[in-house]
Amino acid sequence: MSTIKHVAIIMDGNGRWAKKRFRPRIWGHVRGSGVVSDIVEAADEVGLKSLTLYAFSTENWSRPLDEVSTLFKLLKKFLMKEKARILSNNIKFKVIGEIANLPKDTINLIRDVENLSSNATGLNLTFAFSYGGRAEIVRAINNFNEKNPGTAMTESDLSSLMYRPEAGDVDLMIRTGGDQRISNFLLWQMAYAELFFTPTAWPDFSVSEFKKIIEHVSNRERRFGNVSAQSGLDETAEQAQSNKSLFAKGANV
Ligand code: IPE
Ligand code: IPE
Ligand code: MG
Repeated sequence: MSTIKHVAIIMDGNGRWAKKRFRPRIWGHVRGSGVVSDIVEAADEVGLKSLTLYAFSTENWSRPLDEVSTLFKLLKKFLMKEKARILSNNIKFKVIGEIANLPKDTINLIRDVENLSSNATGLNLTFAFSYGGRAEIVRAINNFNEKNPGTAMTESDLSSLMYRPEAGDVDLMIRTGGDQRISNFLLWQMAYAELFFTPTAWPDFSVSEFKKIIEHVSNRERRFGNVSAQSGLDETAEQAQSNKSLFAKGANV
């Protein structure tokens, strides 16, 4: 496979998709939830290590109650339907976000699937639910300070305190629905992500478009600040270190 190991998706455009069809927004969510299983299966098939799906943001709590409650119900329905497949496909499932305010039975179901899949070694499947990137960073900093008062924090400390460190940095972020913004998603992990915005609304998103995007982005040159993509990340860091120490010694080159 390519260098794309972690794909994160902002599954957007459900409401507008429904409105265009003279249906309530909720209909868009129902149809959109049907697409999720296909994309999870395709992620596995193309050999991704991690797939993170943005399903409900901290900001989405401000939507009308019936919409919020539909989104919770769809999460529960998805888990009931997919639990067996998650387990039989060796998928490691986790929800990231502040889920304490979700209905109790949904929280229990989430914990159940997380626990049962905790030893899986295949795809890291993450649902970002009641999730905010800023909240995740603040939570990590507070956790660190509590355990290490007065100690300076490093980048790797912060990375390791994210909700799901094993998912790693995001290589590719896809947003459906036509808007070009990141809406408080994985702010820390997306520092060097490739971004791809498609006008396709989430309910119309397909496995073939997903695979085409991955293929297309795999051909982009990812330079990580260096002059050529030929240098790997380690090599890039090594070169930076040697340049820095040369100048620190007063080099005038
Ligand atoms: C994305 O679709 C799903 C969630 C945010 C939960 P939207 O509901 O945001 O759909 P649009 O953007 O209004 O079309
Ligand atoms: C982002 O979509 C959150 C999810 C897709 C879950 P929104 O539709 O809520 O984002 P904004 O408000 O348009 O930025
Ligand atoms: Mg939206």
